[in-house]
Amino acid sequence: MVDDRLAQLKSNGDVPRHVAIIMDGNGRWARSRFLPRTMGHHKGMKSVREVVEGAIEAGVEMLTLFAFSRENWSRPSSEVAALMDLLADYVAKETSRLRKNGVRTRVLGDRSSLSGAALEAVETVEQATKDESRLQLGLCISYSGREELTRAARMIAADVEAGRLDIENIDEQAVSSRLYTAALPDPDLLIRTSGEQRISNFLLWQIAYTELYVTSVLWPDFTREDLFEAILDYQRRERRFGRVSA
Ligand code: FPP
Repeated sequence: MVDDRLAQLKSNGDVPRHVAIIMDGNGRWARSRFLPRTMGHHKGMKSVREVVEGAIEAGVEMLTLFAFSRENWSRPSSEVAALMDLLADYVAKETSRLRKNGVRTRVLGDRSSLSGAALEAVETVEQATKDESRLQLGLCISYSGREELTRAARMIAADVEAGRLDIENIDEQAVSSRLYTAALPDPDLLIRTSGEQRISNFLLWQIAYTELYVTSVLWPDFTREDLFEAILDYQRRERRFGRVSA
């Protein structure tokens, strides 16, 4: 079944180059099993491995995952600590596998708020995978779309003030090039798990023309087969970018 879907999406062609995912539902997955929420995050880490490998099989070039929002800092401190430990755990367990699979990994977000250990984990995985190019994996951590845009505005203002940029030359490229995703094209497909139909402050600028796909599957249950299903759905759509059909 999973192989059939993979073969089908490959024969359809037009695989999305950049897939972004809002990984949601870890807490509900755990609650339904009478487990602590952190067990949901643990199981969710396995789904991360699953989609990274599925993305490579499908030929996706960039995968951007929403792992921890700036707003998530307001969760109970024990849950925040567990999520930060999980990040370090992910880096410790997965770095060699990421490198073997050719996955360049970068962390997008406000790293000034990360603790020493989390920051060290981030720098370790970025450094260890910097020469890889098969898949570009973006882990959004302490990320907020509004903060990203505000930061870009601050950078533009500083460049104008210093005489490096003329106001007339502030265009969309001037904004895009100052985002955490500066090096990446916009996502073609955004997947959200757990059935919630919200953007939750994720990639606000970048998703202007992105196709949205919401599935009721909870993140810890999400497999590469679900990723292939989302890509097949994307391939059935007509992207018009505000224009009329051909
Ligand atoms: C949303 O579920 C998920 C998160 C806030 C954390 C996502 C983290 C992982 C998938 C694991 C860590 C991955 C890496 C790469 C370090 P929720 O807790 O909001 O679920 P709920 O809405 O059901 O409560």
